[in-house]
Amino acid sequence: MKAQEDYTSLSRPDPPFSHPEIIPRFEGKVPRHVGVIMDGNGRWAQQRGLTRTEGHKAAEPVVFDTIAGAIEAGVRYLTLYTFSTENWNRSPAEVRFLMGFSRDIIHRRVHQMDEWGVRVRWAGRRPKLWTSVINELERAEEITKNNKVIDVVFAVNYGGRAEIVDGVNEILSRGEKKVSEKSFASHLYNSDIPDLDLIMRSSGEKRLSNFMLWQSAYAELDFEPELWPDCGRKVLWRAINAYCRRSRRFGGVESA
Ligand code: IPE
Ligand code: IPE
Ligand code: MG
Repeated sequence: MKAQEDYTSLSRPDPPFSHPEIIPRFEGKVPRHVGVIMDGNGRWAQQRGLTRTEGHKAAEPVVFDTIAGAIEAGVRYLTLYTFSTENWNRSPAEVRFLMGFSRDIIHRRVHQMDEWGVRVRWAGRRPKLWTSVINELERAEEITKNNKVIDVVFAVNYGGRAEIVDGVNEILSRGEKKVSEKSFASHLYNSDIPDLDLIMRSSGEKRLSNFMLWQSAYAELDFEPELWPDCGRKVLWRAINAYCRRSRRFGGVESA
């Protein structure tokens, strides 16, 4: 077996579980389910004259700082957009790196997540995804299945349209002739998880890029300027603060 790459030269130390100085306080109800589009690793590296790969490496501690911050804030479900069905369009070398890196991160971090009370879950398509990545995700799901502090969903080989089409095909294969919104939603990847309340995207891009198209119907959208390796729990808390100030009406009118 190929030796694991050495990632010990990461640009930042591992995040502590609780922020050393700040206790997060929010004026309002914290979102139950937050989705994060972790964007900007390549640009972060480019700005420093580094390879795109270095940008992805710098993202690792930020992912775990964000998970810790979500736990501190009281978020119950966190979905992290890790690799989209369109990311196969990148160079073979970058795809290979992202696959191996995702596999190794899950492998190395599963016990830390377990200690934090994280239930690890995976959302995505099987075909094309490296078997070793699927194996690590499924192992992590098994190890952490009884944890209840937070569900962290890694969206790997995930596409919103793919998820909807997979649901439709499941319905057709069962011979169902009619669906309702509720029955259709039960065929999505993790149908027990509630819809998104908040989607945060880093790097200033203002689009969904095929993320959770069904579950985002009434999500509040928040776009932060920092590139992902410069994010972390403080940026997440900023987004949650902005969310707390929004008025969610779901097509109705605000109650007096
Ligand atoms: C996000 O950063 C990571 C993945 C999509 C896997 P990018 O790699 O998209 O970084 P930019 O957008 O090119 O800066
Ligand atoms: C979205 O970022 C996918 C992930 C963060 C995993 P991209 O960088 O792939 O999105 P586009 O191509 O800018 O829309
Ligand atoms: Mg990008």
